[in-house]
Amino acid sequence: MARKKITVVGAGHVGAQTALWLALKGLGDVVLLDIIEGAPQGKALDLLQASPVEGYDSRITGTNDYRDTAGSDVVIITAGIPRKPGMSRSDLINTNVGILKNVVDGVVKYSPEAHLLIVTNPLDVMVYAAWKFSGLAPNKVMGLSGALDGARMRAFIARELGVSVRDVQAMVIGGHADEMVPLKRYSSVSGIPITRLLSDDRIEAIAARTRKAGGEIVSLLKTGSAYYAPSAAVSEMAESIIKDEKRVIPCAAYCDGQYGVKGMFIGVPVVLGSLGVEKILEVELDANEKKAFDNSVSAVRALISELKIG
Ligand code: APR
Repeated sequence: MARKKITVVGAGHVGAQTALWLALKGLGDVVLLDIIEGAPQGKALDLLQASPVEGYDSRITGTNDYRDTAGSDVVIITAGIPRKPGMSRSDLINTNVGILKNVVDGVVKYSPEAHLLIVTNPLDVMVYAAWKFSGLAPNKVMGLSGALDGARMRAFIARELGVSVRDVQAMVIGGHADEMVPLKRYSSVSGIPITRLLSDDRIEAIAARTRKAGGEIVSLLKTGSAYYAPSAAVSEMAESIIKDEKRVIPCAAYCDGQYGVKGMFIGVPVVLGSLGVEKILEVELDANEKKAFDNSVSAVRALISELKIG
């Protein structure tokens, strides 16, 4: 079987670490593209020189030219400016939409069959814009949200209970922003609902920390935003598509009536396979969950209405 080709646009913190995870997972050859000359080439060489130590054979190349990305199966877009301390995700919107237009045009020109995985924030709006710019079918465009937010919640639950992260499941839906909706009723430890293991207060504290997890890291780093967990989570999504694993991973997906949402992207549980978003799983939400989800949808809609792309 021919090797898969994965392009990562943006060779910054998230992009470079994504290239490493992809190589370590042996998912295919990786092209790192950035607007800055030398940066993707330098990082690609560095990653090549790590390969004998770690034993990966992915061919990793760096470029500033979209022609080198031709025929990619999956394209992960991290290009943009990261959130700075005190900056809301919405503040980022104008700059990053401009960058995204440029990137998506270049990507689709040379890889019309690729799946687009968006990481650039503010996430749900960027996915919508990428979809509009791309002209692709909605199942081929998706964004990193619940895979990351769920991982963060799982880590916090595991720490709280002193159990292995492998046994913890957590479901976070809604927009990838402060209004995201951690679902305690759909979070468990080896099948045991967390509501049986933790008090309401502790669960609420974990949910609140999950909602603010990105911001907590921004405040500590001061000069950038999180990248290890985001890159790991988006690599997990890419893996499910490339290997047609059909993992159930919440991500920003195009809703056509599901969860009462039509015509926009928002975080919902989906089946990820070789066709991209193959199915949205609709689970019942109680009144509070529905209210929180609707609130998150409204917040994303408000940002989308500020976009001037039709
Ligand atoms: N084309 C290609 N690359 C671009 C462009 C462009 N038009 N504009 C910016 N870039 C590149 C930058 O040169 C930089 O190398 O995108 C990269 C972004 O990397 P970082 O600044 O290190 O940001 P990072 O931490 O990787 O975050 C990227 O992911 O999680 C989100 O909120 C985060 O939106 C941000 C994105």
